[in-house]
Amino acid sequence: MSDTIETVVVNNSTPEAETARRSEESRDDKPYLEFDHVSKSFGDKHVLRDVSWRVRSGETMCILGRSGVGKSVSLHNIMGFLKPDAGRIWVAYEDITDYGEKDMERIRKKVTMVFQSGALFDSLTVGENVAFPLRERGGLDEAQIFQIVDGLLEMVGVGHMRDLLPAELSTGMRRSVAIARALSAEPECILYDEPTTMVDPMMAHLLGDLIQKLKYQLKLTSVVVTHDMALAQKLADKLIFLHEGRVVFYGTPKEMENSKEEIVQEFLELDSTDFTSFGKTDLRRALPGDL
Ligand SMILES: Nc1ncnc2c1ncn2[C@@H]1O[C@H](COP(=O)(O)OP(=O)(O)OP(=O)(O)O)[C@@H](O)[C@H]1O
Ligand SMILES: [Mg+2]
Repeated sequence: MSDTIETVVVNNSTPEAETARRSEESRDDKPYLEFDHVSKSFGDKHVLRDVSWRVRSGETMCILGRSGVGKSVSLHNIMGFLKPDAGRIWVAYEDITDYGEKDMERIRKKVTMVFQSGALFDSLTVGENVAFPLRERGGLDEAQIFQIVDGLLEMVGVGHMRDLLPAELSTGMRRSVAIARALSAEPECILYDEPTTMVDPMMAHLLGDLIQKLKYQLKLTSVVVTHDMALAQKLADKLIFLHEGRVVFYGTPKEMENSKEEIVQEFLELDSTDFTSFGKTDLRRALPGDL
């Protein structure tokens, strides 16, 4: 059984909320997100070619692939920032392909994106950043906002940073705050664009744990774009691997290990190379000349 943000953070679920949630769950047989033969080009550059995949409610899908294959473009199509040239896109059980801004604003209340940079408001404190979607939504008094903001910051591990400005935080901390802000909008689905790049391995691990916690505690549907195979193996119910505009693999992490696709195997092998265990002797063998 999933919990809402409020039940997790302030524990005040109502029977009405429970009924509404259960009727949502009865739609589980349909995919929550779907790309149905989607193509997208910029000029003569074909970024996505006939791409299809489905994600059910509560599932996590990881999108893998080399730089420039269209991973971020895929997320931007889900958010309606970009439109496909061909194919249909379903988000929150609705065909959004032809939606204008007004309908997309409604969809973006359900599906939110955590940008790589965090995209926080620089002039607002951490607490005010997280409070922003709550104030926009309305209906909460200051004490309730305060309680939810504190609960969310605690949940993502930056509870003591409420009064700091984003500039005072590390990249990883900014990303945690961005996740807290995304959560305060009470989304059904979160899209993460490379959540663990540019942070140290420990922070990457913590962010991975946080995304996993949100998946299980809030039953959030998630799409995670990443190069981090360890993260993908940990989080993904499904993985897609994009290469030269096409889906060259679509399946579970276990199935991916057995994929015959050369590029997928190269990716897996590269990732399993533990460069930190390379001793000086190995380096001497690997590199010509003196070290
Ligand atoms: N708005 C745009 N206008 C023109 N070209 C674009 C636009 N957005 C993306 N592209 C191009 O589409 C291709 C895919 O970009 P995308 O950002 O999706 O790559 P990516 O897979 O996310 O790569 P990375 O791992 O480096 O983030 C790139 O060649 C990029 O230059
Ligand atoms: Mg990208």
